[in-house]
Parts: sequence; structure tokens; C-alpha cells
Amino acid sequence: MITIRGLQKSFTTRQGRVDALKKINLDVDEGEFCVLLGPSGCGKTTTLRCVAGLERPDEGEIKLGGRVVNSSRARTYVPAEKRDIGMVFQSYAIWPHMNVFQNIAFPLTQGQKRVPQSLVGEKVRNALKRVHLDGLEERPATDLSGGQQQRVAMARAMVTEPKILLMDEPLSNLDARLREQMRVELRKIAKSVGVTTLYVTHDQAEALSLGDKVCVMNEGQILQMATPNEIYSHPVDLFVAQFVGEMNFVKGEVAGPGRVASPLGPLSAPVPDGLPVGAPVTLAIRPEHVHVAPPSSQDVTAPRGRVTSKNYLGDTALLEVEIDSVTLLAKLAGDTAFSVGEQVTVQTSADRWRVFP
Ligand SMILES: Nc1ncnc2c1ncn2[C@@H]1O[C@H](COP(=O)(O)OP(=O)(O)OP(=O)(O)O)[C@@H](O)[C@H]1O
Ligand SMILES: [Mg+2]
Repeated sequence: MITIRGLQKSFTTRQGRVDALKKINLDVDEGEFCVLLGPSGCGKTTTLRCVAGLERPDEGEIKLGGRVVNSSRARTYVPAEKRDIGMVFQSYAIWPHMNVFQNIAFPLTQGQKRVPQSLVGEKVRNALKRVHLDGLEERPATDLSGGQQQRVAMARAMVTEPKILLMDEPLSNLDARLREQMRVELRKIAKSVGVTTLYVTHDQAEALSLGDKVCVMNEGQILQMATPNEIYSHPVDLFVAQFVGEMNFVKGEVAGPGRVASPLGPLSAPVPDGLPVGAPVTLAIRPEHVHVAPPSSQDVTAPRGRVTSKNYLGDTALLEVEIDSVTLLAKLAGDTAFSVGEQVTVQTSADRWRVFP
């Protein structure tokens, strides 16, 4: 549905050239919810703006629903208003001098996707129903809460029933609780309409919970494009591993096939092919895969350490365990009997470790 090939975009600034996008490839299937995730300045907005037709790429090709809208080679450039796209931005950009109805009706009465006046009312009411704002047609746009304004922006983006919806950090102006509610809501709406969505965020929790597919970006490149679960459990490199979710890192050295020497002692771990014995590596493991047991544990090879902090969070508890020079964070279910200062052993299973060159 959205196909991007070799997309490149540079900007010239007073400090010199900035390569905002370095030949990225991206595929979003029909009806799929795809999230672009990455730190500030990695090229998320630039990607979205190129898809929208608000930015002219230097090189590459963009296809929307099989139609080429951008091709540097064929010198094709379809302008934004002819791309059949709905957009929602961080600043909702709803018009303060209009009421809710007028705001949402705007794309139906102006521009490329105008419809006969007799259809406007019904389309606006349908759009409002979708975002659960029915009955608020007459309300001045300024008399709405942040969450309601965001929904108006969504309704307006979707009122023309575009094939593609682009969203750039649409929830970042909302407070934490509302953001979480709207997150669930937003995905439901997009899914029920079946619109193909490209969604930008720098918030990893948001990306994991929203996306059918997540693209982790850094410095103008897509490092990994996969399901949220794949990204979380099999990050392709150190950047993805540290950017998405909590992770423990330990330095080590390849000791043989499937074996790594580390400050925790010898560990079994999936060493990538081609790494020679002695190669320096970084081992990574999620806190929920670090198991803590009493020192009397049967497992005599398990590293021993001391609990240095405990953070009780209700459903889980986070323990910091110091083992010689290494501190591991362990996430345990519920309250745990272990307390600060206690001696413990730490158990990990080989298949939970990730090994990065
Ligand atoms: N119009 C412009 N002129 C010059 N440089 C630009 C312009 N737009 C973007 N850039 C640069 O391109 C790079 C990518 O910017 P982009 O806005 O795509 O980042 P982003 O991932 O959306 O970041 P954020 O999370 O902060 O919104 C940055 O280094 C940025 O400074
Ligand atoms: Mg941005």
C-alpha cells in the first residue's frame, strides 16, 4: 500500500549538509498500522512529509496503492492534495473560530475531495461517531479538552475516507493517562475503518502497543522493521536493544561456539556465526529474564551477588543485584521476599541472552 524505495533527503543548513534520510526502504501493507520509532532528529517527520508530498525527496521512489507519486528517475511528483491522504499532527491545527462541525466539514467543502452539500452533514456525523464525539457538533472548538480536540483532528483527517492516514506524534500534547487511553482508542478507530496508517513517535511504549509493525530508525536509516514482539525479543543491534524497553548490558568475550566469558562467569548464549574466539561482545538480557534465587540454590554455577536496591511497583518489583563489578536489574512478579543487602544467586537461561558484536 505504501512502498518506499531508496528514499534519500538531505538539507543544507548553515552548519553544512544534513542527511535526513539515507536511502530508506519501507513497506506498509493495506490496512496495516505501521509505526516509525526513533530518537529526535532521526528522520521520522521527514519520511512522513515525503509520503505526504510536503517534502520533495532527492532520490528514490514512493508508491501509494500501487501508484507512483514520487520517482526521482521518472521525474514524477504528485502534489500533496492529489495523494488521498489524511494527516494528524502534534499540534492539532483545528480552527479556533469554527465549531466542531465546521472543523470536520472543512475538507468536504474545500479542496480536492469536495462533496455535494447534501452529503456533508451525514459524513461529518459518521466521522464524529467514529471518534465518540457525537452530539458535540455545535461546540466551539476551543471549548474542548485536549483529548477531544485530538479526536476532532482525527475525525477531520478521516472524513474524506482517505486510503492512508499519516500521524506525527499526535498524542504528545496530552497528559500521560489520556495519552494511554487515546492510544487504545486511536488504534481501534484506525483498525475499524481499515485505513493504512503510518504513525510517528519517539515513545517506545507507544510504538509497541500501537503498531502491527514497528520501524526503528536512527540517523536517517531504518535499523529494524518487524512486529513489536520481534523488535522486543530479537533486536537486530545494540541501538535497537537499548532504545526499546529496559535492557541489561554486560561486556564479554567469545569463548567458543555458544559460549561467552563475562564478569558473571562463563555463560551459554547464542553467539552470532562468524565471531572468532576472543572477539569482544556485548551481552544483553531483559530484566524479566533475570531470575533471582536464594543463595542456597542448587545451581552451583549461577553467579552470586547482593541486592543493592528494591523498587516495589505493585504488580512487579525491580531488584538491583550487584555481582562483582556488574549490576543487573531483575524484574520480579508481585512483591518479593528479597530485601536490600541480601545475598542471592542470579539465574539466566541461554536463549534469553542476546549477543552483539
Ligand atoms: N527544513 C529543514 N531544514 C534543515 N534541516 C532539516 C529540515 N527538516 C529536517 N531537518 C533535519 O533533518 C533531520 C531529520 O529531521 P526530522 O524532522 O525528520 O526528525 P524527527 O525524527 O522527526 O525528529 P523529532 O522526533 O525531533 O521530531 C534532523 O537533523 C533535522 O535537523
Ligand atoms: Mg518529528
